[in-house]
Amino acid sequence: MEESSIGVPSLSLGDRQKLDDLYQRLESERQRFIGYPCSAEFDYSPLYRFLGFPINNIGDPFVPSNYHLNTHEFECEVLEFFRGLCHAPPDGFWGYVTHGGTEGNMYGIYLGREMLPDGMVYYSEDTHYSVSKILRLLHVRNLMIKSLPDGRMDLEDFRETLKIHRDVPPIIFANIGTTMKGAADDLEGIRAILADLAIARHYIHVDAALSGMILPFVEAPEPFDFSCGADSLSISGHKMIGCPFPCGVVLARKANVDRTARNIEYIGTLDTTLAGSRNGDSALFLWYAIRALGLEGWRRRVRQCLTVAEYAVKRLRDEAAVQAWRHRNSITVVFPRPSMDIISRWQLAVHHQWSHLITVPHVTQEVVDRFVADLRADVGNGSAGSPT
Ligand SMILES: Cc1ncc(COP(=O)(O)O)c(C=O)c1O
Repeated sequence: MEESSIGVPSLSLGDRQKLDDLYQRLESERQRFIGYPCSAEFDYSPLYRFLGFPINNIGDPFVPSNYHLNTHEFECEVLEFFRGLCHAPPDGFWGYVTHGGTEGNMYGIYLGREMLPDGMVYYSEDTHYSVSKILRLLHVRNLMIKSLPDGRMDLEDFRETLKIHRDVPPIIFANIGTTMKGAADDLEGIRAILADLAIARHYIHVDAALSGMILPFVEAPEPFDFSCGADSLSISGHKMIGCPFPCGVVLARKANVDRTARNIEYIGTLDTTLAGSRNGDSALFLWYAIRALGLEGWRRRVRQCLTVAEYAVKRLRDEAAVQAWRHRNSITVVFPRPSMDIISRWQLAVHHQWSHLITVPHVTQEVVDRFVADLRADVGNGSAGSPT
């Protein structure tokens, strides 16, 4: 390492080259980034000046703390935006900007367990892989419920399993937009079963990692939010919105959160969040994305993504004879697993016989066309049928 004229360490030639190589690689890979639900369509350059501060949103966003280099004010506005989208009660909600969907889900299950310490978590086979780890970490009893072939929770299996454990209060982990198939568990059906079995003590956490930023903008959304019985809800920020670093939001009913809060003298605020130090830049970046596009802008962007998803289904079917399908209101286009070459070149996620592409904002019709052309040229593409 060399010293520069202002005393700031500067990199050696070799290290600078290494960074340039990384930049080139990322630029190139971005051209074929269609398998994961992370938008690459953003420009946060007006915010770069804030990267010169050691910003830290430690503590509860709604309570002042001794650490003043924070963006709590912006975080609260982000939370208010999502509160509106998810119909949480204005005076009865709480939340914070997380480091991603996984932390939001861990928070939701944690809160559910604090409310119902003797509870049992029910979650479907199609649940994100991180949830089984969370359940182990929180040491909470849990049962996996079968999924239907299209990815939704099998409510017959749910009802039968619940009947066997009627003495144990259920904590339901509902997927609204599963990872592989974009399926939404039937929240109304779940609540009807709880009512039918007269199970009054229950907790519902909703994992809306991707769809939480889609359903609020469509005409006929699947039931997914606080108005449909959710007690907490997690959404990723780097997925539909897009951000250079992972982030998300978690929202919960305030009355529940208040029962877990602890005052900590060292930071002069409440210790309500899972993480101690928290990324204050993500709150700022999310705030910027929300304000720059506005509600109408996001509605248009979501509509465009759904249009491209439909286009992709059609093109894959018509041009490449691939049995592609998707759920209504989902931008996850599911198709049989293609060859390893295609999987690797297009960074596709795969699970058993399935693969998918996700039409987040940077996956345009032109990108879909390039993918379909590549798939056609590939001899080893899959040929299994749709389960729907
Ligand atoms: C449905 C679902 N839940 C949770 C997660 C985990 O979210 P994150 O990667 O933001 O931690 C994902 C990630 O893809 C997901 O698809």
